[in-house]
Amino acid sequence: MKKIIVANWKMNPQNREDAKSIFRKIQKVAEECRNVKTVVCPPFVFLSDLQKLARNGECALGAQDVSGEDALKDQGAHTGEISAEMLRSLGVRFVILGHSEQRAQGETDEEVSRKIKAATRGGMMAIVCVGERVRDAEGEYIHFIQDEIRGSFAGVSPKNFSRVIIAYEPVWAVGPRAEKADTPDGLFEMTILIRKTLGKLIGQKSALTVPILYGGSVNEENARAFLTAGHADGLLVGRASLHPDVFGRILKAANSIKS
Ligand code: PGA
Repeated sequence: MKKIIVANWKMNPQNREDAKSIFRKIQKVAEECRNVKTVVCPPFVFLSDLQKLARNGECALGAQDVSGEDALKDQGAHTGEISAEMLRSLGVRFVILGHSEQRAQGETDEEVSRKIKAATRGGMMAIVCVGERVRDAEGEYIHFIQDEIRGSFAGVSPKNFSRVIIAYEPVWAVGPRAEKADTPDGLFEMTILIRKTLGKLIGQKSALTVPILYGGSVNEENARAFLTAGHADGLLVGRASLHPDVFGRILKAANSIKS
């Protein structure tokens, strides 16, 4: 399986010229990295511009959220929301859901589950973020992750898991206030726990086919170790993805790994 490397630009950059310039540079490297599936997730407002630049699908585009509401049911009466259909009409096939920065704004597991249903039903790949806030010595984080997975995927049909990618992002490792990244060993243990928890929902065999990415302070120094020793199927990269040179080196590192 190709490694999946996802750029999460969050609320950056601040204008479309910068967005186009960063994207062009990333796309150039992505075209050379045939063993990698590269996905760039800019803010909604840049998707249309960037889609025009996208060539041959070497660098796919993703959104950072989608509405869980059904636009057809109540005449689209959801101000400020973007539907899966709208994204698909632009050719956008991926969407990040349940990011810890959205959950910190009050997004619940129930809302995440509605968004996963809307996205997968609409034929999109849902990149679903899960992760504990603290890795406490008592091991409470284990229950936290199990509950978050059960809650976020409640009611999601097992057949739609073929359109699910999990991004394990320990909250303490994410963003500019992060203490540090996880370790490859820590990540490997968590992927085993995540697969076991998924197995109870969809069966162990299907659970083995769901890609699990790592996210949280990924940089060009640690990327390779997460993909090798940490056994990650890919990476979700925030800050480093806004620097095309750095992100390009992460893509190249992923591309050089023999699977
Ligand atoms: P970071 O963000 O790489 O800046 O820690 C990762 C993410 O939020 O997906």
